[in-house]
Amino acid sequence: MNIMILGSGGREHALAWKITQSDKTTNLYIAPGNGGTSELGKNVPIDINNFNEVGQHCIAKAIDLLIIGPEEPLVKGIKDHFGSSQDLQHILIIGPDAMAAQLEGSKSFSKKFMAKYNIPTAAYQSFSISELQAAHQFLETLNPPYVLKADGLAAGKGVLILDDITEAHHELEKMLNGKFGEASKEVVIEEYLDGIEFSVFVLTDGKDYKILPVAKDYKRIGEGDTGLNTGGMGAVSPVSFVDDTLMQKVEEKILKPTIRGIRAEGMDYRGFIFFGLTNVKGEPFVIEYNVRMGDPETEVVMPRIGSDLVELLQATAKGNLSEQNLWEKKDFAATVMVVSEGYPGKYEKGKEITGLQNVEESTVFHAGTKREGDKLLTNGGRVIAFTGMGNSKEDALEKSYAAIKKICYEGICFRKDIGFDL
Ligand code: AMP
Ligand code: GLY
Repeated sequence: MNIMILGSGGREHALAWKITQSDKTTNLYIAPGNGGTSELGKNVPIDINNFNEVGQHCIAKAIDLLIIGPEEPLVKGIKDHFGSSQDLQHILIIGPDAMAAQLEGSKSFSKKFMAKYNIPTAAYQSFSISELQAAHQFLETLNPPYVLKADGLAAGKGVLILDDITEAHHELEKMLNGKFGEASKEVVIEEYLDGIEFSVFVLTDGKDYKILPVAKDYKRIGEGDTGLNTGGMGAVSPVSFVDDTLMQKVEEKILKPTIRGIRAEGMDYRGFIFFGLTNVKGEPFVIEYNVRMGDPETEVVMPRIGSDLVELLQATAKGNLSEQNLWEKKDFAATVMVVSEGYPGKYEKGKEITGLQNVEESTVFHAGTKREGDKLLTNGGRVIAFTGMGNSKEDALEKSYAAIKKICYEGICFRKDIGFDL
């Protein structure tokens, strides 16, 4: 098969890494890719939100399977674009249609969906600017901290959690007046859930599903999970507190009703679902749906999948996933992300990275890098994820950290406490 992956992060590098291990893969393209993916396939420098351009490249390269890494093209309807074109509709696609992608693209859509299918999530109401008075009143009925969410995609910045009610009223007004542009024209106000977060992923063909290894990411920039939110500073899989009892509840109360809802709504969902969950005293609740894999979770999930991923993806897109088995390895995986100084605020790019050739103990997944001549340069906030595997979480983490010791670039930063139990 000729396969193309859209995206340029560590997630896409990890997907590419797993895909090249399959006998079914003939040629692999990554658009636009990064300094790591170019070692596994061919990088294609295109704008992945320009569907005509993506389509032309798929035809030119006789692509059989297209995997969409990030959410934006999905929410903008890439699946629908391919489906409605005579030249493109034969291409198998991993990712939902635009309607289903609203599960991530609109918080109020996903909250309505969860309410309709009785899926446990925080109590909420959503408001537009014409309902400002009612929004302020609803806020008064809640206890702190107050959770305000821009309805639409806001590059991971659209959620505010505030302790002070006066500040919450003020921010609510700013959001409804366009603090996050179109994304916050509607705002979801919800109850705060005091729990420990974890990430569950499934592959679904819209009828059946396969559960992927469970992971936990470490989102904050600072040790002890403090400071600003980032795209993710590290992850582990499996997760110590996610035992069979909790997973059974996740499956019965969340996964099954979600798939039932997708079917009942007539959504075309053939791809990954990422359930952002929180464990409140042994009960799982949905914090959010994402219609893609997580990053950096993918960097620990892929190495723990024993089965052929291309076979699974092919079955997903064709709608015969029930015939497949997903085998999860026993090994523990941990990934630690090295980032640029200043991230998640302002940071510089273009720093030369050295020492990677000496890394043996971990798998290296590039996130924000690029090649220039024979040099490898930093090209983003999150730079490289180092994934160690071992018989225990500690063993896996030791390998990740040993690898980091061998590399160098100006301003290298990373968390030293990935994997700690909260
Ligand atoms: P979201 O974009 O919905 O995942 O929100 C971003 C982050 O805010 C989540 O990963 C949680 O850490 C936090 N968060 C969102 N909603 C809630 C909630 N209802 N209760 C507690 N924390 C939340
Ligand atoms: N790791 C969280 C995300 O990918 O959104």
